[in-house]
Amino acid sequence: MKKKVFAFSMVFLLVFGALAGCTSSNTTSEKQPADESKEKKEPGVVNLYTSRHYESDNDLYKIFEEKTGIKVNVVEGKGDELMERLNVEGDATEADLYFTADAGNLHIAKESDLLQPVESEVLSKNIPENLRDEDNYWFGMAKRARVLVYAKDRVKPEELSTYEAMATPEWKGRVVARPADNMYNISLLSSFIEVMGKENAKEWAKGFAENMAREPQGNDRDQAKAVVAGEADVALMNTYYVGLMSVSEDPEEKKVAEKVGVFFPNQETTGTHINVSAIAVTKHAKNKENAIKFMEFLSSEEAQGKFAEVNFEYPANPNVQPSEFLKSWGEFKEQDIKLSVLGKNQQKAIKIFNEVGWK
Ligand SMILES: [Fe+2]
Repeated sequence: MKKKVFAFSMVFLLVFGALAGCTSSNTTSEKQPADESKEKKEPGVVNLYTSRHYESDNDLYKIFEEKTGIKVNVVEGKGDELMERLNVEGDATEADLYFTADAGNLHIAKESDLLQPVESEVLSKNIPENLRDEDNYWFGMAKRARVLVYAKDRVKPEELSTYEAMATPEWKGRVVARPADNMYNISLLSSFIEVMGKENAKEWAKGFAENMAREPQGNDRDQAKAVVAGEADVALMNTYYVGLMSVSEDPEEKKVAEKVGVFFPNQETTGTHINVSAIAVTKHAKNKENAIKFMEFLSSEEAQGKFAEVNFEYPANPNVQPSEFLKSWGEFKEQDIKLSVLGKNQQKAIKIFNEVGWK
């Protein structure tokens, strides 16, 4: 039996060798089919451009590599810089995947023709419809909420209710938020356009801007710092920054995290605004199959908890529980919209911010 197999192998090798010899003497284009079939047997690589930079992500990449044999190559950078790099590299890019925060940013990448749609039953099953692009160009992998963060020594949670209430005269000079050109704010206002209509959204932006204790400045963490410093009572912020500050190496940030409370607004009405960190296959991906396998792995129950927890985000896969830290804030009602609409309303939101003078 062994001999037979050996004999067959020898024949195969001779024939294959003859064919290979034949093609090699021909043009390079004829050589390609043989090379391609050889490549298909190898698991190959997947190249990821990501705005994340967590050690625990590397552990997940290792698990994926062990499971599939596919090597994960990572380029880290800021989301907008990586998008610009994709743009400049064009079809020469080595990136197969682009990962960044905020559905609004993914919308820009899609509109800039940098992404391609993905069909995957696994992703459709693991990622709820509202957390992915309506044409399947990107898929949310972790959720965050944009909430009211308040000074625990000056504000009682009972005094808080809705985003809209923060735009009424009662809160004059008592709120802070980062500038209007920030995507988190643009997406927040885009969601309001959807749930309350354009005119009401504009009224809200106008009222909130008028109530600000100072000119919009800094990032989300700086808003919490202003609240603790007594400059304002309530800040508009993403949930995960409170978590990240609570484990910060900077003792000042740790203290800030202890002194603020997190309030999920609009629980009796339209729900709290949520957004996602999301991943997409690039338009010119050379390893599309591997890229989809990688996305499917990230969406799995095995990977989701760890992936979301490190940034204090909520898992996108509803079968996976959030971390104990997030559970301590309790469950909350989310806005009932598809995140695709954030991109669609983006230009309207930017126009409103300009019109109402939110700098
Ligand atoms: Fe952020």
